[in-house]
Amino acid sequence: MPEKIQRKRAVVVSNEPLASDIHELVLRPEAPDGEPFRAGQHLWIEIDPETRRPYSIASPPSRPREIELILNRVPHGPVSNYLANLRPGNRVVYSGPTGSFHVDVATPNDLLFVASGTGLAPLRSMILDLIERRVERRIDLVFGTRRRRDLIHPEEFRHLESHRANFRYHPCLSRFGDEDWSGHRGRVTAVLPQLFTDLRRTDAYICGRPEMVEDTIRVLLRLGIDRAACHREGG
Ligand SMILES: Cc1cc2nc3c(=O)[nH]c(=O)nc-3n(C[C@H](O)[C@H](O)[C@H](O)COP(=O)(O)OP(=O)(O)OC[C@H]3O[C@@H](n4cnc5c(N)ncnc54)[C@H](O)[C@@H]3O)c2cc1C
Ligand SMILES: NC(=O)c1ccc[n+]([C@@H]2O[C@H](COP(=O)([O-])OP(=O)(O)OC[C@H]3O[C@@H](n4cnc5c(N)ncnc54)[C@H](OP(=O)(O)O)[C@@H]3O)[C@@H](O)[C@H]2O)c1
Repeated sequence: MPEKIQRKRAVVVSNEPLASDIHELVLRPEAPDGEPFRAGQHLWIEIDPETRRPYSIASPPSRPREIELILNRVPHGPVSNYLANLRPGNRVVYSGPTGSFHVDVATPNDLLFVASGTGLAPLRSMILDLIERRVERRIDLVFGTRRRRDLIHPEEFRHLESHRANFRYHPCLSRFGDEDWSGHRGRVTAVLPQLFTDLRRTDAYICGRPEMVEDTIRVLLRLGIDRAACHREGG
């Protein structure tokens, strides 16, 4: 028998541009969830009973009443275009939170987060949660995007870096043009070997398009990481 979906409603608080072609949607659930979500989980947003898609929660569990999503518009994609056009006060139907992507707090290892594009969303929730909980493990975020204007929340991550000794932010641009950029150049897969030489005592969390995740895991394995320490959505 198919699993029954428990549908919920949320009101749109805001929907604002965050980077070029990327926007941040803030949702307030109409009824508080009994259980808080875990950093790394996602919601399923539905536009009709046959059409729903998963979206990672980008904000930390400490803010269950203002859930932030980081979204891009996919050409001709029904759900991403519906989300891009929402206005404050509109209502959305969703189910969840669900998903088993989460940080393993049982190991003492360093934590490496590698994201591209909107793949930053679940990793931002995890990082903000770890920092709020004052976890002392070393935390590195390697974030890949194309141009400077595509960076997502760069001020927030720079601020965290300057206030928390155990957090490092490594933005990487793959298609910079004339802009003034003294940071890392190239895809995350090219930058990772410049930043790390031995990842034997590191747990990695990776999110982005499937080819990026596969290529990143290949690079991390060459740098000594244990395959079981590479975590991605879906296992
Ligand atoms: C667990 C999980 C979490 C996700 N979280 C997020 C998130 O936080 N933010 C977010 O923006 N998206 C996220 N996605 C992607 C999201 O679920 C949808 O797939 C996406 O928004 C497209 O939906 P759509 O209905 O607009 O288009 P679809 O009908 O799904 O796709 C239309 C066409 O575009 C292609 N396509 C799908 N995605 C992309 C893309 N990114 N770039 C180019 N072409 C594409 C499809 O292959 C298809 O050919 C997540 C996906 C998964 C599996
Ligand atoms: N929980 C989840 O599973 C989840 C959550 C959120 C988003 N997502 C997914 O994440 C993806 C984000 O895609 P996006 O369109 O925003 O960004 P994108 O198109 O993947 O581009 C962002 C950056 O990734 C680089 N890149 C592309 N292929 C790569 C590869 N094989 N190895 C290393 N780097 C690579 C690009 O470099 P170039 O300039 O060289 O192309 C660019 O710098 C989407 O597919 C979305 O569905 C998943």
